Amino acid sequence: MKVLVSGGAGYIGSHTVVQLAEAGHEPVIVDNFSNSKPTVIDRVEQIIGHHVTWYRADLTDRAVTERIFLRERPDAVIHFAGFKAVGESVAEPLKYYENNLNTTFSLIHGMQASGCRLFAFSSSATVYGMAPLPFTEEETDLSALSPYGYTKLAGERILTDIAAATDIRVALLRYFNPVGAHPSGLIGENPLGIPNNLMPAIANVATGRQDMLHVFGNDYPTPDGTCVRDYLHVVDLADAHIAAVEWLSEHDVATRIWNLGTGRGTSVLELVHAFERACGHKLPVEFAPRRPGDRDAYWASAERARDELGWVAKRSVDDMCADTWHCQQGNPDGFPNGEPASQPSQA
Ligand code: UFG
Repeated sequence: MKVLVSGGAGYIGSHTVVQLAEAGHEPVIVDNFSNSKPTVIDRVEQIIGHHVTWYRADLTDRAVTERIFLRERPDAVIHFAGFKAVGESVAEPLKYYENNLNTTFSLIHGMQASGCRLFAFSSSATVYGMAPLPFTEEETDLSALSPYGYTKLAGERILTDIAAATDIRVALLRYFNPVGAHPSGLIGENPLGIPNNLMPAIANVATGRQDMLHVFGNDYPTPDGTCVRDYLHVVDLADAHIAAVEWLSEHDVATRIWNLGTGRGTSVLELVHAFERACGHKLPVEFAPRRPGDRDAYWASAERARDELGWVAKRSVDDMCADTWHCQQGNPDGFPNGEPASQPSQA
């Protein structure tokens, strides 16, 4: 299949592009590089060993998006492009709603203009809000704790309604906590600025860019008092997208939801200790007050993805840390600035 990957130069997008190419599909990257570096295209091409078609485009621009669809005529879309910083979304909700919803609308228009039918949406476990565990895909009491979360919840609802009314087929993929990097060390998470998330913060402490890891809260009702999350390796997550798009191509179901996680929880301190094993030294940690909005502990119910997609997350927390560390060591200053060697396609 030819698969248009929105946000294909970003963290999860770039890994998915690599896994698509390695599974024999043809990825097409569309990215405006608002939160990624164009040189990631070089890295992707280095890993897969051939050119990848890419566009520098803002997917909130409907006319440009439709032109790309008419030119490429993809079979499927995987939609990663979106702003994702929870705290920033509270400060700038309009920016989040406008960008994250308009990109989705433009993509649907592009699909309708070109006859593309399959859509995989990058959603989040955040839509479970304060629902009780276990988090199963049948849960109806969904909510969100931030404007970012509401853009995911709204995206799910909008796509469900569109799928019910058209021949578009939608996979809603609820990610838990993606971490890690490609084993080549050539692509990985490269947050621009101060990281909000735990794994990039740990990596910064391990390289010395940050003096100390602040652990937000050690009085939660968990075994060691720190929050528990379901971390999964980004390459496993990328593989799940391919399984989901292939499933959509074989089933006439309007919308299907899958949790993507390991089904196992790891505490903040357990992740720190796993990273210490990977990098070979102790990491300085200081306990800080709880971060507003954090839940104490949750993880995925991962059975549906296993049973229907035949997908299980294979890589361990130690793999996640080792691959993150490898990528950090190869890219101590992040990915290079500048333009990729290959030329973009013109919309
Ligand atoms: N944490 C620290 N110190 C840090 C950063 C994080 O202690 O420097 C803690 C957090 O307080 C939390 C845990 O590490 O307890 C995990 O935090 P992350 O920010 O890495 O991940 P979250 O579980 O808060 O959020 C992630 C995604 C969101 C998504 C959410 C859905 O980043 O986009 O999962 O569950 F909405």
